[in-house]
Amino acid sequence: MGTHQHLNHIIQGNCIEIMQQLDDDSIDLTVTSPPYDDLRNYKGYVFPFQEIAQALYRVIKPGGVVVWVVADATIEATETGTSFKQALYFKEIGFNLHDTMIFRKKNPIPQIYRKRYNNEFEYMFVFSKGVVKTHNPIMIDCLHAGLELNGTTYKNYSKNEQTREKLAKPVKNQKIKGNIWEYVVGKKQEDQEAKGHPAPFPCELVRDHILSWTNPGDIVLDPMCGSGTTPRVAYELERNYIGIDISQEYCELARQRIKSIEKQPTLEFLEPELL
Ligand SMILES: C[S@@+](CC[C@H](N)C(=O)[O-])C[C@H]1O[C@@H](n2cnc3c(N)ncnc32)[C@H](O)[C@@H]1O
Repeated sequence: MGTHQHLNHIIQGNCIEIMQQLDDDSIDLTVTSPPYDDLRNYKGYVFPFQEIAQALYRVIKPGGVVVWVVADATIEATETGTSFKQALYFKEIGFNLHDTMIFRKKNPIPQIYRKRYNNEFEYMFVFSKGVVKTHNPIMIDCLHAGLELNGTTYKNYSKNEQTREKLAKPVKNQKIKGNIWEYVVGKKQEDQEAKGHPAPFPCELVRDHILSWTNPGDIVLDPMCGSGTTPRVAYELERNYIGIDISQEYCELARQRIKSIEKQPTLEFLEPELL
């Protein structure tokens, strides 16, 4: 068994065992979200974090990317800090911490007052095996498009603040999106399909990462795919997918989601004069 035999399948099992069957340096992108600190009681819960991180390092291609979506529980008045510990472990075993991104929820669940502000984000740690090989940046409109500027202040982190006069002008129409991404959670029809799983991430979030870090035909893995959001979106965007989950029930849900968007054969219409 190698990576190619598993392409475009949802596989039930412990990801540690299934990933052993994947070839070295064979995956372009992983988008995944592990169980957070025991926050939820998944069916068949087993989570050997360090082994999973090492297996991901082995199977990712040089220049490939792992997007690790994670948050911390608050236990006995302190956040656990597990997210940071995991990020540092990924670095320790050889990954670059390419970017620490934020997934901001536009509709966070209101929380009971605990003398702290309402939690409304999760981390999206973007790790790479060496220098990232594919980046198709998402562009957004510039607020001041077309405006003529005389000078502005640039922040150059290696050389302190620098002031530059005489900017190229006018301001261009578009710029690369920032690294805080905002989504509504659980409301869209495509996300409602994941009902039956306690913690799906939004299709839109996965879509933005797959478009950013892969090209059509690339291979996208989610070793803890739950309701199958990553495989579903990979399929929609004409990437190959491999989805793994320990729960048979979630694997079935993932297969159903992909089946529901399977491409229909193109209908051929006759020219009216031929009817
Ligand atoms: C946060 S959920 C993932 C949700 C997913 N991103 C989605 O959109 O539905 C984590 C998943 O990890 C699975 N899981 C936990 N330990 C696992 C293991 N050792 N191997 C495979 N899956 C595992 C759980 O069954 C659960 O579905």
